[in-house]
Amino acid sequence: SDKSSRIKIGFSQSISEDDSWRKSMDNSMKVEASLHPEIDLSIYNANSSSKKQINDIENMIDNHMDVIIIAPLGNDSITPVIDKAFKKGIPIIILDRKVNTSNYTTFIGSDNVEVGKIAGKYIASRANKVTNVLEIRATTNISPGVERSLGFKQVLNQFSNINRKSITAVSLDSLNQSFSRVLDSIPNLDYVFAFNDNIALQVWDVAKKKNKIGNIKFIGVDGLNGPVGGIQAVKEGKLTATVLYPTGGSEAIKIALQIVNKEIVPKNTKLATTLIDSLNADIMSNQFDKVSQQMLNIEQQQNVIKEQEKEYITLFNLIKLLTFF
Ligand code: FRU
Repeated sequence: SDKSSRIKIGFSQSISEDDSWRKSMDNSMKVEASLHPEIDLSIYNANSSSKKQINDIENMIDNHMDVIIIAPLGNDSITPVIDKAFKKGIPIIILDRKVNTSNYTTFIGSDNVEVGKIAGKYIASRANKVTNVLEIRATTNISPGVERSLGFKQVLNQFSNINRKSITAVSLDSLNQSFSRVLDSIPNLDYVFAFNDNIALQVWDVAKKKNKIGNIKFIGVDGLNGPVGGIQAVKEGKLTATVLYPTGGSEAIKIALQIVNKEIVPKNTKLATTLIDSLNADIMSNQFDKVSQQMLNIEQQQNVIKEQEKEYITLFNLIKLLTFF
């Protein structure tokens, strides 16, 4: 298919691929897009700058994208450019973090209140004595941070034997210091629930270096598959549990196609979440491995088909040439 007839999808990613969850989101989009040769996917990365993200979306409007997918950095400064694109008639898909406007076509993501509740219930169901819990909240007021914290609190507040303290991960350095102070001030800490697996693993390191892991159980969020992901950390026993938070990358591409094909899509697409601990970590990673293997197989089959098409065209041209004479 020639360039002009292809479906142009622009994706505005907020955070650099040094962040493994962001990299995984980008990858699942690329893989899904490669399964649909009619799609022309362009990924822009804002490197944690709202200004850059706004600029990227402006560029996508100028480049006449058929659909714009946005994984917002924050929720406020970005809204005018979203409103602008939407009012121009460009379908907008929002991923993961919410925005303060209803001018979008669909939102894709897990329910973060549920994510927090799952972590809270995991602790509550095991707390048969006085239990000390530390919550490490997200840096800024992003919706996943606020909502995870809310769900967590809602569950734990129902239990008088559970003490909950919370700190905020303002910067990575300051987090190490504040967590270190908590370790000194709460000698019998039982659980740490961190905003995500990376933060949970970072403070695990701090506790390890201070020789203070003791009985502390660490719980994170994301549950990425692969060597540096949360599932592996559960298998290694660093994390007691993680709550799966799917990136929604492949869903975004599928839904973008539905929109282009004039299908009606719901305003909200909820992605499934679940708890991963030592009981199901192997099953989960095996399943994820299988899916990636199948994706790879499909890609390889498509390459074979493309090669065959090329051979067919060569043959066809040869026949044309021969019949001409
Ligand atoms: C990655 C991340 C994830 C988290 C999500 C929330 O950049 O921090 O760890 O689940 O973003 O927006």
